[in-house]
Amino acid sequence: MAYKNEYKRSIEDPNEFWKEKAADLQWYRFPEQILSKNSDGIHQWFADGELNTAYLALDYHIENGRAEQVALIYDSPVTNTKKQYTYRELRDQVAKAAGMLANLGVTKGDRVIIYMPMIPEAAIAMFACARLGAIHSVVFGGFAPPELAARIDDAQPKVVMSASCGIEVKRIIEYKPLLDNALELSQHKPQNCIILQRPQAKATMIDGRDLDWQTTIEQAAPADCVPVKATDPLYILYTSGTTGKPKGVVRDTGGHAVAMKYSMKAVYNMRPGDVYWAASDVGWVVGHSYIIYAPLLHGCTTVLFEGKPIMTPDAGVFWRIVEEYKVKALFTAPTAFRAIKKEDPNGEFIKKYDLSSLTNIFAAGERLDPPTYEWLTEKTGLSVLDHWWQTETGWAIAANMSGIEQMPVKAGSATVPVSGFDVHILDVDGNDMPTGKQGNIAIKLPLPPSCLNTIWGDVERFKDGYLNTYPGYYLTGDGGYIDEDGYLFVMGRVDDVINVAGHRLSTGEMEEIVGSHPAVAECAVVGVNDNLKGQLPIGLVVIKSGIEVEEEQLRKELVALVREKIGAVACFREAFMVLRLPKTRSGKILRKTIRQIAAGTEYATPPTIDDPISLTEIEAVLKKR
Ligand code: COA
Ligand code: AMP
Repeated sequence: MAYKNEYKRSIEDPNEFWKEKAADLQWYRFPEQILSKNSDGIHQWFADGELNTAYLALDYHIENGRAEQVALIYDSPVTNTKKQYTYRELRDQVAKAAGMLANLGVTKGDRVIIYMPMIPEAAIAMFACARLGAIHSVVFGGFAPPELAARIDDAQPKVVMSASCGIEVKRIIEYKPLLDNALELSQHKPQNCIILQRPQAKATMIDGRDLDWQTTIEQAAPADCVPVKATDPLYILYTSGTTGKPKGVVRDTGGHAVAMKYSMKAVYNMRPGDVYWAASDVGWVVGHSYIIYAPLLHGCTTVLFEGKPIMTPDAGVFWRIVEEYKVKALFTAPTAFRAIKKEDPNGEFIKKYDLSSLTNIFAAGERLDPPTYEWLTEKTGLSVLDHWWQTETGWAIAANMSGIEQMPVKAGSATVPVSGFDVHILDVDGNDMPTGKQGNIAIKLPLPPSCLNTIWGDVERFKDGYLNTYPGYYLTGDGGYIDEDGYLFVMGRVDDVINVAGHRLSTGEMEEIVGSHPAVAECAVVGVNDNLKGQLPIGLVVIKSGIEVEEEQLRKELVALVREKIGAVACFREAFMVLRLPKTRSGKILRKTIRQIAAGTEYATPPTIDDPISLTEIEAVLKKR
């Protein structure tokens, strides 16, 4: 009942509901306008409110008795380092880092790109930007230089903050040459790069442009928090769309802070002072929301983990961390648990550690598949809660709201819509589908606080991609159904976006890259199911006539090309030559049918198909895998 009441109130009277939640934060100016529309006719939250997220996440707690509480625990098995920062220590570092940026002329509204591994300085850099009202854009370390360059050109940063290297298990990935390469490729040239020299690799610096983090920060005076408007952007986070051009999701300051604070209790059932751990990366939205912002806005202790679920050093590392820091809630992607399950199927490591502090395990990033859910529940004896969200929303759209009312779990379901999200399943014409029937998942407007209301510099792309398909609704890009108890089952993307090890990637972008190979006439890249990573991309390639090339040689070249252009994270390892791709009579590649064949699901031969034999060939090729 508690959930139903909370949810009903949020939908029926969003103004009152979110005004009440906004009052949980200490604003410089409390908003009078709660929900309104901006000059583009798009909903916005708390338009006349003023606040500063870094103040609320750090200084506020120091002023309210948490100065000596640990704010951030850094645990890095890859460098054998453990370090803790109290709220006071973290705030002081952040204020100095903000001073360092201010000395370089960074002010409110300027962009700063952060290209860093999972080290405390990444968090410090993000908060330093927030302190000044500068807009950060964190780029995941696994992306290759062309991806970084595309983000630099789009965000036009004044400064880039980076480190000499990241560490992948035992492999040192030098970031500086990647950054230098990206800056050669980009049209936009930032004024300065601030580089943190890690002991594992020494970056070569470019005179006049590059600054050493350590010496520069020592010369800086602490900077104060700058009040910003609730609608001012806190950050831009690029995510994959259906084309090669990444989409800059813009996160506003006020709506984000309110939703983050609310979610810590409502979704994760955390109290200030509890230890919360999101095992993700600061380069992804989960890292932004639940390693950095939400736990600290709520006065919790957050864990920043530089390692992998396995191999650093073993499949017990997650449980070791839970025991060592008395973690109350653990949040990660199902792929991490599948990796642990593969190494430790009987859960021997789980038995070795004291997990009594842990109350809930949360999973997101991809659907928590029932076998992984069953295994984890059985081996840990804990409640394992799936929840569904996107970079665009910044927090869960559907969840088991454990801080309001923990509902019975249904394996394979993200449970129920979260407060403020009016979730509908629509058919192609925009009509609600009957209970239990699968369709496009859409959210009736207005979206609740924290959700994007534009793409950086391209409001039309936002309208076209999300709002125009179903007027009055936001299109999620996911398909699924709602059952008779109101539980939502998210079954996967309906577009050309795939999820590889919880990482969102665009097959459209991979097609552009594969298609740029001189031997390739045309191609299709689709996601196929994978037991560990959820999905993996594979390429089906038609060769230009008159060109002689061996399949294995071509595969190697295409794999290298995708790795060079997108990065290792794309996990593109398979490509097959085919004589033709299935197309409609008007020449459109039947990607959906290819996806169905690849997934091994039943499919109907589309009536518009030009040459049905092409489907038989694809089936035969994919059977060979
Ligand atoms: N910097 C540089 N390279 C990176 C990187 C980073 N930050 N992150 C990943 N890579 C590289 C990997 O080293 C790997 O390279 P390789 O092809 O040369 O081996 C490649 O990108 C693919 O990485 P990944 O898909 O992560 O595979 P993996 O085999 O290294 O690890 C898992 C598999 C399941 C252990 C890992 O994906 C994982 O821990 N996932 C957790 C989920 C997660 O964090 N999701 C984020 C959203 S919640
Ligand atoms: P990202 O923006 O990288 O967080 O990826 C968002 C996409 O990941 C969603 O649109 C879904 O396709 C998928 N996703 C995330 N969480 C879940 C989940 N719990 N269940 C099903 N799909 C999910």
